[in-house]
Amino acid sequence: MKSWTATSWGTARESLTLNTSTPAPSLPHNSTSLLVRITHVSLNPADLVLLKSLPPWLPFRRAPVPGMDFAGEVVAVGDAVPAETGLKAGDEVCGAMGLWEVAKGCGTLAEFVAVESSLVVKVPGNWGGRDAVGVMGIAGQTAVAMARSVMAGGGMQGKRVLVNGATGGVGSVLVQICRGLGAEVVAVCSGANAGLVKGLGAGEVIDYQAHDPLEEYLAEVLGDRPLDAILDCVGRQPLYAHSPRYLKPDGKFINIVGGWSQGVIPFVRNKLRPCFLGGTPRSYELFLLSASGKTAREAAAWVEQGIIKQAVIDSELPMEQVVEACEKLATGRAKGKIVVKVEK
Ligand SMILES: NC(=O)c1ccc[n+]([C@@H]2O[C@H](COP(=O)([O-])OP(=O)(O)OC[C@H]3O[C@@H](n4cnc5c(N)ncnc54)[C@H](OP(=O)(O)O)[C@@H]3O)[C@@H](O)[C@H]2O)c1
Repeated sequence: MKSWTATSWGTARESLTLNTSTPAPSLPHNSTSLLVRITHVSLNPADLVLLKSLPPWLPFRRAPVPGMDFAGEVVAVGDAVPAETGLKAGDEVCGAMGLWEVAKGCGTLAEFVAVESSLVVKVPGNWGGRDAVGVMGIAGQTAVAMARSVMAGGGMQGKRVLVNGATGGVGSVLVQICRGLGAEVVAVCSGANAGLVKGLGAGEVIDYQAHDPLEEYLAEVLGDRPLDAILDCVGRQPLYAHSPRYLKPDGKFINIVGGWSQGVIPFVRNKLRPCFLGGTPRSYELFLLSASGKTAREAAAWVEQGIIKQAVIDSELPMEQVVEACEKLATGRAKGKIVVKVEK
């Protein structure tokens, strides 16, 4: 089969090679996996981080294939896949691989992948693989989990929620979920993308480039009507440090970006530091997704219910242009998901 393989350590251009004769995976006896013919893969910033941080020569990585998200057709079902899953050859499925599988090199930028049946969900409604991969993959699952965390404090209806990074893969799904479940959404993005996030359901759009520093502006316009939650998809530390000026005392701050320290510095600074040592008197959560079929199924259910109305797709590139797709992702300017079309 055709697959992309990491042959060295670094950027996508430095490390990736397209192979045309990689052995296709097969399902061993007693397997709970599915063999899936991949049609679409969407890329995530974590794919680039893994290429730069995990050398291909590590003993547990053999000709590592990157890629987490997938959509495709089931071509074989392991003999130990529970019958109650109802999964069968010919089903269109989507989801995201677990981090350890991708770290080992069993990623999705290939024509076939063996994937645990518990990680998949059937493509919902009349969606195709291109849209499904954008919403049921890592980004959409992260958005679902963040929304769930906000709702743990009593639902979403009537809350005022700020989404920072509202036009990215995560943010574009998050805006739709929060709005669809009854929240008032304040979206932060560049002015050029204001129309896009309004179309996703944001009631108020703040251009972070026109209002610098953003935190001063937020204090000015939200100080007398503070937020119930701030969902930070950018990892902007001052947004948390200044949050008492625009986040309710019992409000939630959820960040998904750990930065170069992989979350250690924000965790120590924001979670462990007491207020008398300069800590910020607001709750802080540093969230790390563990991909799961359960979360993908929740995303699919919200698609079926019309809460998530659309996948925002920045662009779709052919399998041969994965390096270009990764370079576009690395600019940090993608609007929604960059999708790779794997099938001919
Ligand atoms: N912890 C986890 O489990 C987890 C899971 C998924 C993703 N993540 C992380 O979350 C981050 C977002 O992921 P993603 O997939 O949404 O990334 P993405 O799609 O690459 O995000 C691109 C978007 O970020 C926006 N952006 C860039 N700088 C910004 C700024 N200073 N303020 C506001 N918006 C800004 C851009 O919008 P404009 O052009 O309008 O500025 C662009 O639309 C990444 O760092 C990713 O690694 C973490």
